[in-house]
Amino acid sequence: MQPQTYTRTAIVLHWLIAACVFCQITLGLWMIGVPKSPPGARAWWFNVHKSIGITLGALILVRVLWRLAHRAPPLPLTMAKWERVAANSNHALLYVCMAVMPLTGYLGSSFTQYPILYFGMRLPHWGWDAPALKELCSQVHLTTVVIFIALIALHIAAALKHWLIDRDGSLERMWS
Ligand code: HEM
Ligand code: HEM
Repeated sequence: MQPQTYTRTAIVLHWLIAACVFCQITLGLWMIGVPKSPPGARAWWFNVHKSIGITLGALILVRVLWRLAHRAPPLPLTMAKWERVAANSNHALLYVCMAVMPLTGYLGSSFTQYPILYFGMRLPHWGWDAPALKELCSQVHLTTVVIFIALIALHIAAALKHWLIDRDGSLERMWS
């Protein structure tokens, strides 16, 4: 039978990943402005971003696997058909962005001569020094984050509309 509300695991994963994604996007956008000289600070922040990103990638993988094994509760019956299509599409695209960001980040970092450090620990390199491939991954990383931010903004606006205007209990079922 389909559950009527999100489970505790789904709720914890949703809010933990949401909080980390907010921090990771803010950090990513800020760190690309850190000057290259004097050397050190920029590389340090890039390594922090990579370490958080890899942790986030693992959490997202757990969430996707968990979600594949569990159905989401049905959307409120008061929702119009277009709203259901919009909500389901928004959620699916959010999952796509959540997968693409860590993958392109890791792959892009693999196509450089620099080691990938996970909180100081050296990780395996999947690639080799290939500037064109690195540039491609960087472009996908950047383009995806722009789409990701737009989808998150839409997602939050919809959640607030359902909470404050429709009062249909959507936010509550992702809260408690
Ligand atoms: C959900 C996970 C991630 C999010 C939300 C995220 C977000 C961002 C953002 C907003 C930027 C700045 C805009 C840009 O230049 O693209 C950025 C840049 C960057 N990110 Fe990530 N990132 C994630 C995961 C990763 C991972 C796992 C790595 C590497 C292991 C990584 C490596 C980089 C690098 C090297 C840059 C600098 C620009 C470039 O060379 O592409 N990111 N990221
Ligand atoms: C980076 C930020 C966020 C991401 C990536 C994200 C992602 C998602 C995804 C993928 C789902 C679908 C869950 C599933 O059925 O598998 C979801 C559901 C939901 N999210 Fe978020 N979310 C974020 C932030 C937020 C915020 C800030 C709010 C509230 C203001 C929110 C409210 C909700 C609600 C209420 C649902 C349940 C919708 C329903 O089925 O009724 N989310 N979120």
